[in-house]
Amino acid sequence: MRLNKYIAQAGVCSRRKADELTLAGKVKINGAVMKTPGYDVQEGDVVVVDGKPVDAPEKAAYYALNKPAGYITTTSDEKDRPTVLSLLTDVTARVYPVGRLDGPTRGLLLLTNDGDLSYHIAHPSQKVWKTYIAVVAGHVTKDEVWALRNGVDIGDKKKTAPAQVTVLKEKGDQTTLEIRIHEGRNRQVRRMCKAVGHTVLDLQRTAVGDIALGRLREGTYRRLTPAEVEYLKNC
Ligand code: URA
Repeated sequence: MRLNKYIAQAGVCSRRKADELTLAGKVKINGAVMKTPGYDVQEGDVVVVDGKPVDAPEKAAYYALNKPAGYITTTSDEKDRPTVLSLLTDVTARVYPVGRLDGPTRGLLLLTNDGDLSYHIAHPSQKVWKTYIAVVAGHVTKDEVWALRNGVDIGDKKKTAPAQVTVLKEKGDQTTLEIRIHEGRNRQVRRMCKAVGHTVLDLQRTAVGDIALGRLREGTYRRLTPAEVEYLKNC
């Protein structure tokens, strides 16, 4: 198997990134620097990337998880909070989350050991739309909806990219919004709502592209179908 594919399928990074690391002299095969991304990895070769040994790639595995609030998407935590990986009770593949959902956020999280697919979905240049349902405090005015749609200043160098925003419900002093974004900035939806004066009380991701959370119960997961994997590779 080509070196870049080997590294990507082992879940280290995308094929493109593997090429960069290889050309930069960060990859060793059996102790010697290997700068040829097209090198054909042989059985028994010891591959080391950035000083870390890479386990031989396993069969590609793809899952959708309905993440409950309180679980974190990094693979370990200094505060000892439970990680989403602890919910995958019968998954033996070394999968990891595609992108992030912050601790209090619930909903659809994809997991895979396929570095290329992960990069493809999570990278903002790919413009994969992610759909969120946000319950926010207070009444959201038409002007505020327009501001969210056009892009708001959330304290980064650039305004947020245009978003699709719909008011779904207003009840008492709370408003439920559907917000679709294709960027993946840190805590983006919460910061967008804050930028127009509203605190998010509950946040759930309901879809990544056309892959919907559907009726998957909170805390449970399922394998993606071959058609869903194919869709994600091409979306
Ligand atoms: N936006 C947020 O604020 N949090 C998430 O987890 C995802 C998007």
